[in-house]
Order: sequence, then structure tokens, then C-alpha cells
Amino acid sequence: MQKLSIGMFDSGVGGLTVLKEVKKLLPSEHIIYFGDTARVPYGNRSPQAVTKYALESALFLLTKGIKLLVIACNTSSALALNILQKKFPIPVIGVIDPCAKEVVTATKNKRVGVIGTKATIKSNAYEKSIHKLDPDIQVFSKSCPLFVPIAEEGLEKDEVAHLMAKKYLKDLQHAHIDTLVMGCTHYPILEDVIKNIMGKKVTIVNAGRETAKEVKSTLEKHKIADTKGKGGCEYFVTDSPEAFEEIGSRILNEPLSKVRSLKNLDYKDYLLSS
Ligand code: DGL
Repeated sequence: MQKLSIGMFDSGVGGLTVLKEVKKLLPSEHIIYFGDTARVPYGNRSPQAVTKYALESALFLLTKGIKLLVIACNTSSALALNILQKKFPIPVIGVIDPCAKEVVTATKNKRVGVIGTKATIKSNAYEKSIHKLDPDIQVFSKSCPLFVPIAEEGLEKDEVAHLMAKKYLKDLQHAHIDTLVMGCTHYPILEDVIKNIMGKKVTIVNAGRETAKEVKSTLEKHKIADTKGKGGCEYFVTDSPEAFEEIGSRILNEPLSKVRSLKNLDYKDYLLSS
């Protein structure tokens, strides 16, 4: 019998920072990744548009035979987790709640920074999720919209990344935070620059590790984990695959095989009218 896969989606390469951790923790699983590169970035779009894109991505993955869906995108997790959990017959995991768990353990002075896309910050999803676990934590938020195109263009080592990080993180540098959440799955690509500006005393948290743990426990709970043999990954993107392959292989430290580009025509069955 053919193995069922774990489905994951993001607007582009960002979700690969989550895939990397899932792959490490669950080496026997087969993962199908969907990057909506033709419509990246999601973070500046309306909640309606993000929800529609999330539904379309999930519908596409569902037809590929998946047993669990990971929303490897904070923006879609903030705006569409509930609807996907309601509409789909398989477990659906977002990245915000697992990340909030790690924050609560990491902070000692209960002053936490959250950086993310405009849509994620506007939704207050992190604040809500953190406050459910500890209402005494003070959350300082900042959107960093240009980090996503910088990551998608592979410019994380360029001066532009440093200049933008300096500008975006200025207020957080003076907020006496001891923990900073990279509340966008693209941001770990810029982790060195962010660390450099925030200094050694600030713990940087990203969604990948905690989400991977959540994936493992959910698979075990539903008795659908694959623990034997070697897993693998397949990738689908909605624009040309070259840039995705190049940046993706840098994130995963290995060449990306099996990246397929979906032409509008292949994809049209999954597109919902507005
Ligand atoms: N990587 C996504 C996130 O975590 C989406 C970023 C974007 O497309 O703006 O929010």
C-alpha cells in the first residue's frame, strides 16, 4: 500500500524552514510541500485573500493523498487555521500555537518581541496565543514586510538585509525583551542578521522545531506515524521552479529534487472563485 504523506504549504520558500525540522524529527515520513510562489507575499494581503489561497493550497494537497496538513506559514495560520480545521477531514496544524509554547518556556523577564508580516501582526494571533498560556507576558510586535522578498530573492547576506533589519528592529532593541519570535517562516533565513542586531542575550524562537514536535505527537495520537524506511520530499510551486530550487537547497543544505511547477491549467481545478 502506498504511504500517505504529510502535506505542507506556504507562500514560497519560507515553509521549508519548518519542513527541515519535520524531516529531521520524522525521517521516515513522506512530505509533499506546496509553495505558492506566483502569489508570494501573502503578508500584505487581506484576510479574505489569504483565506482563499490557504483553502486552495490545502485542496490541492488533499488530492495528493495526505494524512495530516501543516500550515507552514504564520500568515495563513493566523487567518485560516480555524476554517481549515473545520473544513478538512484530517488533522491540521498551524505554526503559531506551537511557537507560543516555546516562548513561554524561553522568557524569563516576560518581555517578548514578535516580528511577522503585516497581516500576522495585525491579527494579534501571537499575543492571543501567548496570553492563553501566560497573561502576564508583555508582547512587543513589529511587522517587517520587506524580509519576505529579501528571503525569496536570496539576499539575506546582502547589505540590504542588514539595513532593513536595523530599521525594523530598532524599537525592539530598546524594549528590554529577552525573547524574540520570528513569527514568519521566511525569517529564519535572515536569522544571522536578526541575531547580530538583537545581541546574544535575546533568545530567538522560530516555529520549526516546536511545530515538528506537534506534528510527531499528532501523528502518534492518531496512530498514523510512519516509522519504518526512508521518507522523502516532493515539491510543487505555482511559478517557475529555478529560484525555489536554488534558495530551497540553501535552506535544506541539500539539492532539492522533484520540484514541479504547476501551470495555471493544472492548478485551475483547485482555484476558488472570490
Ligand atoms: N512565510 C509566511 C509567513 O510565515 C508568508 C510570508 C508572506 O508571504 O508574506 O507568514
